[in-house]
Amino acid sequence: MRAVEIVGEGREARLRLGEAADPRPKAGELLIDVVAAGINRGDTLQRQGLYPPPPGASPIIGLECAGRVAELGEGVSNFACGDRVMALLPGGGYAERAVAHAGSVLPVPPGLSLTEAGGIPEVFLTCHLTLFDLGRVWTGETVLVHGGGGGIGTAAIQLLSRAGARVLVTAGSAEKCASCLELGAERAVRYGDESFAEAALDWTEGRGVDAILDHVGGAYLEDNIRCLARGGRLILIGVMAGASGTLDLGRMLGRHLSVIGSTLRPRSVVEKAALVERFRKRFGEDLSARRLSAVVDRVFPLAEAQAAHERMEKSLHTGKIVLQVREERPG
Ligand SMILES: NC(=O)c1ccc[n+]([C@@H]2O[C@H](COP(=O)([O-])OP(=O)(O)OC[C@H]3O[C@@H](n4cnc5c(N)ncnc54)[C@H](OP(=O)(O)O)[C@@H]3O)[C@@H](O)[C@H]2O)c1
Repeated sequence: MRAVEIVGEGREARLRLGEAADPRPKAGELLIDVVAAGINRGDTLQRQGLYPPPPGASPIIGLECAGRVAELGEGVSNFACGDRVMALLPGGGYAERAVAHAGSVLPVPPGLSLTEAGGIPEVFLTCHLTLFDLGRVWTGETVLVHGGGGGIGTAAIQLLSRAGARVLVTAGSAEKCASCLELGAERAVRYGDESFAEAALDWTEGRGVDAILDHVGGAYLEDNIRCLARGGRLILIGVMAGASGTLDLGRMLGRHLSVIGSTLRPRSVVEKAALVERFRKRFGEDLSARRLSAVVDRVFPLAEAQAAHERMEKSLHTGKIVLQVREERPG
């Protein structure tokens, strides 16, 4: 099959179209004829050797895909060949065929294209896990989402809005701020122009925000802690600007704060299946009714995966960049 391969190492590593052996579904898994594969920041790190796949995962890059079921592994009964599906993958998405655990697969509702669906699982499931399961965000709470214009950011704004939470975002440009407001954020801060901590305190009349979804890390730690409300949760999902910083323990103690870290990829298939089920129960209807959708920035052919990574690394995108692996056939 055609699959994207990594050529070179470190910062010089590039992607090119190559050939790989077809994967085979084991018991509990299914084989998907991939139509589209979403691109995630973690993929750009994997290309550079900074985010190796977990043991047993495909060495091919790609944490999510959408397509049609091509074959069922032993014991899989909740899907049939030909079904339109989207899947969370431990790897292997940038290829014509990918294998997913049945518990990591969701049906694609009619009316949602497989191209769009290819950009849904990784960011929506990460946001569900971190904001609602771990971060316990409730209706009416205030949440600061950093990088609101990215894949995670655009999913977080939509999910939080559906859940009745109020959202403040940071983003790198006026255009991204405007997109975030259109998606449902109440306020958007262009981080070059304004202090997000001051903006968060001002927005909450000095109280602070109830939760923060942060992938920036060390560089934001002190300001994040400074603008959390009593009982606030800092949910850390990345360290794009440093993996260490100074934590004000006195403030954490006095204001009952928590710092929660999470990565989705290395979690067990059992944990992922439970997450998929919780997401489907709570937001499945919103997805079917298109009250939730992937904000697709640009679609690149599989052969142009390198150009797609460069667009992401320059942060030129708003929402999701998607690779088109094959055309979606009707029916
Ligand atoms: N832990 C997990 O389970 C998990 C799962 C998925 C993703 N993640 C992490 O979540 C983050 C977002 O992933 P993604 O796929 O959504 O990537 P993405 O689409 O590239 O989104 C990242 C956003 O952050 C902004 N940004 C970049 N550098 C920044 C900085 N120094 N300060 C503030 N904002 C900055 C970017 O645009 P602007 O700078 O123009 O605003 C971009 O919109 C990544 O760090 C990724 O590794 C973690």
